[in-house]
Order: sequence, then C-alpha cells, then structure tokens
Amino acid sequence: MNIILLGPPGAGKGTQARLLQDKFGLIQISTGDMLREHIKNDTDLGKKAKVIMDQGKLVSDDIMIAMIDSRISQPDNKNGFILDGFPRTVAQAEALDAMLASHKLSLHWVIEMRVDEAALIDRICGRYTCSNCGEGYHDKYKIPKQSGVCDKCGSTQFTRRDDDKPETMKKRLDAYRAQTAPILPYYQQHGILRAVDGMADIPVVAAEIAKILS
Ligand code: AP5
Repeated sequence: MNIILLGPPGAGKGTQARLLQDKFGLIQISTGDMLREHIKNDTDLGKKAKVIMDQGKLVSDDIMIAMIDSRISQPDNKNGFILDGFPRTVAQAEALDAMLASHKLSLHWVIEMRVDEAALIDRICGRYTCSNCGEGYHDKYKIPKQSGVCDKCGSTQFTRRDDDKPETMKKRLDAYRAQTAPILPYYQQHGILRAVDGMADIPVVAAEIAKILS
C-alpha cells in the first residue's frame, strides 16, 4: 500500500507517518528528513537547501523529483511507503504519477490532515526531536516519559529545527496555501483523497487513518 500524507507544516504528518510505519510495515519517505540529512552531511545540495528552507520557501521541483525517483524504487519499499512532505506542488504530483507508472506502482490513498492554522505555530515552536533516533516530541503535547530521556532509544540529546521559528513558520504556511493546497483537487478528481481531523489527539488521528487504510 502506497500513501501520501498531506497537510500544512505542523499538521502531524511526521508523527503519523512514524506510527503507520510501525503498524502497517510501511516505509516513511520524508523529503524534509532527506534534505536535513544533506544539510547535516554538508553536501552541495544541503548547502543550497538550507538557505531556501531557512526562508520558509520550497526547494526546486527538479531536485525533489529526482530525490524521490531514486528513493521509491529501493527494495525496502516492497510493503509500500508513506510519502511525508512530497508532493508539494502540482508539478511534483504530476511527476509522481509518471514515476509510479514507470516503476509499475500505484497510489492507494492521499490523506489530508486538516488543522486549525492558529494551533500550528504553537505545535511547531514547541517541537523537538531526539538527536539519536529522530523520535519527535513536544514541550506540551508529547513529553518523554522520563524527563530529558528519549522513550525510544534512551538518548539524552535533543535538537530543534532552524526553520521552526514563528516568522519562518508564517512563510512555510504561505507556501503551503499557495503551492501545496492546489494539489488537493487533483487527488479529489482521482477519487483517492480522504480527510482526517488533525486537531484530535495523536492516537485518535492514528485510529482515524488506520480505519481508512484498512
Ligand atoms: P518538512 O520537513 O516536510 O516540514 P513541514 O511540511 O513543514 O512539516 P513539519 O515536519 O514541520 O510538520 P509535520 O506535519 O510533520 O508535523 P509533526 O508530526 O512534526 O519540510 C521542511 C522544508 O523542507 C520545507 O519548508 C521545504 O523548504 C523543504 N521541502 C521538503 N519537502 C519538499 C518538497 N517536496 N518540495 C520542496 N521543498 C521541500 O508535528 C509537529 C508537532 O506537533 C510535534 O511536536 C508533534 O509532537 C505535535 N503533534 C503532532 N500531532 C499532534 C496532535 N494531533 N495533537 C497535538 N500535537 C501534535
């Protein structure tokens, strides 16, 4: 089963993708994580991407399409994948269809995570992740069971994203409205778009998505 999680920054795409990965044996493909890996490794792409990401803008379609094309054909995807952060423009959505066809794959569901924009700044500005395993946390909504210790791997090192500042977040939301939301009618026409209430508690959202997938 191959699915896309769509929603504005902070809608909970990454949080739900990690839960679906464990529950359904799917692979999470996060373009944001792939770009941050390039930044961490100080590659040429990472250097260029950092400037764009710190401004809350989108990295160019050709770079993102090439990145996904090489990723979806990898053998670890045999049970299917969850695209988290891709496609983000109509051009990326059209390129994805062509890529899937060339790899003889199909798309089963596109899940739109609907959220109240006013809540997003609070979600994003309170977010942090484990530096070792990438597990996501939040100052208010998802606190480690033992303070300062990752539930998943026991690490005590955490990081916050450079683009999780209120002013950058506003630009990311503008980019979502102008460039990503126009994809929704495209998938609506294909009959595979389903919406969930992303404002519900994390396990409730997970159950709602699981119901659609099963
Ligand atoms: P990316 O990394 O994809 O960021 P994003 O889309 O802005 O989404 P986020 O990761 O910020 O949020 P999320 O929806 O995953 O929420 P999360 O689960 O973490 O992209 C970053 C940048 O890379 C882009 O701006 C762009 O520059 C570039 N880029 C990436 N892909 C690209 C592409 N295809 N084309 C061009 N450029 C691209 O949740 C947020 C917080 O809320 C967490 O702390 C979480 O614990 C909490 N939370 C989650 N769910 C709930 C809930 N239900 N209730 C309460 N709290 C919750």
